[in-house]
Amino acid sequence: MSRTQPNSKEKEQPLSSTGQLIGNVLGIETSCDETAAGVVGAGGVLSDIVHTQTIHEKYRGVVPELASRAHAEKLASVVAEALEEAGIERPDAVAATAGPGLIGAVLVGLSFGKALASGWGVPFVGVNHLEGHLLSPMLEDPAPEFPFIGLLVSGGHTTIYHACSFGNYEVLSTTVDDAAGEAFDKVARVLGLPYPGGPHIDRLAAKGDPEAIGFPRPRAKGDNMSFSGLKTAVRNYALKPNPDTHENIAASFQEAVIDVLRDRVMRAVKKTGVTTVAISGGVAANSGLRSAFSALDGITVFLPPRSRCTDNASMIAHAGRLRLLAGDRGGPETGSRSNWQLDKL
Ligand code: KG4
Ligand code: ZN
Repeated sequence: MSRTQPNSKEKEQPLSSTGQLIGNVLGIETSCDETAAGVVGAGGVLSDIVHTQTIHEKYRGVVPELASRAHAEKLASVVAEALEEAGIERPDAVAATAGPGLIGAVLVGLSFGKALASGWGVPFVGVNHLEGHLLSPMLEDPAPEFPFIGLLVSGGHTTIYHACSFGNYEVLSTTVDDAAGEAFDKVARVLGLPYPGGPHIDRLAAKGDPEAIGFPRPRAKGDNMSFSGLKTAVRNYALKPNPDTHENIAASFQEAVIDVLRDRVMRAVKKTGVTTVAISGGVAANSGLRSAFSALDGITVFLPPRSRCTDNASMIAHAGRLRLLAGDRGGPETGSRSNWQLDKL
C-alpha cells in the first residue's frame, strides 16, 4: 500500500491542543454495510481494511438488522488486520463513526471503539461519517487546502459544502429528495442489476451513448438538487414498449446526474469565488463523473482513488485525528445518531 503524505506540513510531534501525543489513530467505520478499520498517522494512511457485507445481495438492499449482526461478527478481525498491517499493537487514539447511518450498525462500531480506547487507556472520539467523506481527499498527495467546495455524493447524501476551515462547513446545495447514489441504485434495480447498482450502471454506461435519451434535469428550489423525478422518468421510459438498449439508458441517466452535479458545483464556485473542488462519497467512484469533472476549466479538482470514495475507515481515522488534535474528546457517553448534519457539528 502506498503511504500518502497528507500532513507533511505537520510538526514532528503531533500534539493535541491539550498537549497529548496523537500519532497513529485507529479508525472504525460500521455505519452501513462496510465493516472497516484503518490506521492513519502523521505520515498518512498506514492501513485501510474494508470488508463489504455480501449478505444483503439477495435482498437487493441493506437489511439493517443483518448489517448490525454481521458487523458484530467481523469487526474484531478487521481491526486486528488493520493494526497488523499498520505494524502497531496499540494506536495513540481511537475514532469511530458515531453517525449518521443505520443506528444499530453505528452502535456496533462505536461501542467497540469506545471499549478498545478504554482498555488501552487512549483518547476516543466519535466522528461524523459525512465529515469523514468530505475530508477524505485530504488523504491524498496533493491534498486540497481550505477553503474548498466539497461535493459529497454518496448513497445516503448529496450535498455541496463550502468547507471554509476545519469544522466550519456551510451547505450551499443539497438534494431535496433522493441522494444521487440512491438514484443509481434504483435505476439499476429497474434494469435488473444487482445491489449496489452504481458500479453496474457505470460499466453499462461506458458502452452506451450519453445523448441517446434526453432525460430531464429536474430543478429544485434555489440551488438545490432533486433526483427522484429523474429516477421516475428513467423507470417510466424503461417500462414503455421498445425502449432503447440498457447501455444507452444507463449512459443517458448517468449523464443527467453528472449534468446536475456539474451545474450546481459551478454555481457554488461562482457564488463563493472558491475554485478548489474536492469530490467524495461512493458516486465519486463513477468513471463518467470523474472524467467530466477533470475536464472542467477554471477549477482544480481533487478526487480520492475509487477505493477511498466508497465507505472506508481511513477517512474516519483522518477526520478523528484532526478532531483529536483540535482537542475534541468523546467519553463513554458518546451516543450514536441516525441523523447528524455536517453544518450542525
Ligand atoms: O459512500 P458510500 O459507500 O456509502 C454511503 O455513505 O452512502 O456510497 C455508496 C453509493 C451507492 O449508492 C453506490 O451505488 C454508489 O455509491 N456507487 C457508485 C459507484 N460506486 C459506488 N455510483 C456510481 N458509479 C460508481 N462507480
Ligand atoms: Zn458513506
